[in-house]
Amino acid sequence: MSFSRVFESLFLALLLLGGGILTQVGCFSFNFSNFPDQNPVDFLMPSAISHIEGAAIQVTPNVNTESYNINRSGRAFYKNEFRLWSKSKDVAASFNTTFVFTITPHTNSGGEGLAFILAADDTLPQSSDGQWLGIVNAATNGSSQANVVAVEFDTRKSYPEDLDGDHVGLDVNSINSIKQVSLGGYGVNISAGNPTSVRVVYDGKNNTVSVLMMTNGTGEYMPVMSLPLNLSDHLPEKVFVGFSASTSNYTQQNSINSWAFDGDDIGEDAARAGLLWVWITVPVVVIVLISGVVFYMYWERKHRERPEDAYPMIEDQIRGSSMAPLNFKLRELRKATGNFNPRNKLGKGGFGTHNDYNNGIVYWLWALRREDRILDAVDSKLSGQFDEDEMAGTLVLGLACCHPNPHQRPSMRTVLQVLTGEAPPPLLPAERPDFVWPAMPPSFKEDTDNGFIKSQLTPFTELAGR
Ligand SMILES: *[C@@H]1O[C@H](CO)[C@@H](O)[C@H](O)[C@H]1NC(C)=O
Ligand SMILES: *[C@@H]1O[C@H](CO)[C@@H](O)[C@H](O)[C@H]1NC(C)=O
Ligand SMILES: *[C@@H]1O[C@H](CO)[C@@H](O)[C@H](O)[C@H]1NC(C)=O
Ligand SMILES: *[C@@H]1O[C@H](CO)[C@@H](O)[C@H](O)[C@H]1NC(C)=O
Ligand SMILES: *[C@@H]1O[C@H](CO)[C@@H](O)[C@H](O)[C@H]1NC(C)=O
Ligand SMILES: *[C@@H]1O[C@H](CO)[C@@H](O)[C@H](O)[C@H]1NC(C)=O
Ligand SMILES: *[C@@H]1O[C@H](CO)[C@@H](O)[C@H](O)[C@H]1NC(C)=O
Ligand SMILES: *[C@@H]1O[C@H](CO)[C@@H](O)[C@H](O)[C@H]1NC(C)=O
Ligand SMILES: *[C@@H]1O[C@H](CO)[C@@H](O)[C@H](O)[C@H]1NC(C)=O
Repeated sequence: MSFSRVFESLFLALLLLGGGILTQVGCFSFNFSNFPDQNPVDFLMPSAISHIEGAAIQVTPNVNTESYNINRSGRAFYKNEFRLWSKSKDVAASFNTTFVFTITPHTNSGGEGLAFILAADDTLPQSSDGQWLGIVNAATNGSSQANVVAVEFDTRKSYPEDLDGDHVGLDVNSINSIKQVSLGGYGVNISAGNPTSVRVVYDGKNNTVSVLMMTNGTGEYMPVMSLPLNLSDHLPEKVFVGFSASTSNYTQQNSINSWAFDGDDIGEDAARAGLLWVWITVPVVVIVLISGVVFYMYWERKHRERPEDAYPMIEDQIRGSSMAPLNFKLRELRKATGNFNPRNKLGKGGFGTHNDYNNGIVYWLWALRREDRILDAVDSKLSGQFDEDEMAGTLVLGLACCHPNPHQRPSMRTVLQVLTGEAPPPLLPAERPDFVWPAMPPSFKEDTDNGFIKSQLTPFTELAGR
């Protein structure tokens, strides 16, 4: 495969990857076909009453102990808020949700009911048990401050306006429904202990709420109620979606067996916008990095094939570069470091960082070099068949490449130059330098005005070339 082909493929792959991530951002949807007991992390349950048990959300207690179950209310929300509308963009989201609930009476006839709710916050109103279904309480009932819209499944006629003990109603900031429909006519008994399938649909364009239910085992959703309602008039831009339920003197188990939600993403979420930025930037950076590596490999291969015109180019590049190697004479280094005075050392192993540089061969080579017999390191099998200066230079280069501070190691360019004899081997200090944390890039040393950094770093000798 040619260089341009490789590059093209990489670019396309990254573009597709980035695009795939981006399209995943574009929806607010989830689908729980059941609720594993050990995994409540996806839900917010503002009271300990609500919990996950038996692969279902138990909005109120599921134990058959009447005294414990009396006068309870609970709420369970999906963990993230849903953006229902946007004032600045003048749009409203459409959504649909499908869930299956099971209501099992504990008392002779059960109470009180369960609701699908959209709420401004993820709290549970105090004293929202009994007739309040966990939707509102005596203080917030009828007030726009309740900030809640509910589709209630009421199992008890608890006040005169309630149709009966088997109805569905639409509630806006009140326990008194703006519309209610008796389910007897549909052949549905919601408190018979059977799973009941419900679908709630909101059209954000014509502002219509519809409730559909699977009735008498036909497997089809039948429209039960549909009415115009502008949710944006009653709810904040972002809402929590979930369920509420309550019991009174009459108790029942209020379980959610499955729940799927699918909503438009009308965007404009600061956090998401932030993530979007990351999702665009990261692939771009990765593309640039990979292109760099690929280009380097290509460049290197090309220049290996035609070595004769390679080196003049390197020389020019080095001279023109801001990274041009600095050469220090040993005398200068001695002066700068107080003759390599140990007191100028920052410390061994650097602030408790483990010195993983404990390589026996490297120490041995440093020791040989100090005693000026670095050529003793050469394999005796070569029986002296080599250029001594070249060999010594190569060994010194090897030590420079093992410098504990990666920033001090010679660049590939310098290594090539030294190996071809165009540059002298790097100048090394007499002693092996210690590893220091943090490893400073050499640019710090250019800042001669900075006395602190200078005094901290002078123990380390600059290598010739980088
Ligand atoms: C949810 O997932 C189940 C399977 O896991 C599937 O049968 C069901 O149709 C899905 N519901 C929705 C609304 O997508
Ligand atoms: C439950 O609430 C009702 C109505 O407020 C009250 O009469 C009854 O005493 C309460 N029961 C318990 C056990 O708190
Ligand atoms: C609602 O449900 C249908 C599938 O039944 C789906 O095609 C649609 O995209 C859903 N979402 C919204 C926001 O309407
Ligand atoms: C709840 O508030 C409504 C007004 O929205 C009012 O008509 C009704 O009487 C109140 N219900 C109760 C039980 O207080
Ligand atoms: C189910 O209920 C509907 C509406 O009440 C009725 O028309 C239909 O005949 C029922 N179907 C069955 C199979 O009972
Ligand atoms: C629904 O079923 C429950 C439990 O079997 C029963 O007590 C109740 O009377 C039934 N309600 C209706 C309206 O049929
Ligand atoms: C609103 O739009 C939906 C389609 O999204 C349609 O089914 C429904 O009949 C419309 N309702 C009204 C009142 O126009
Ligand atoms: C719905 O209510 C919002 C907020 O009050 C308003 O901006 C929007 O125009 C309303 N939509 C319609 C169709 O009336
Ligand atoms: C609930 O039961 C208690 C005692 O059992 C009784 O005093 C109270 O009147 C009942 N409340 C309602 C609303 O039925």
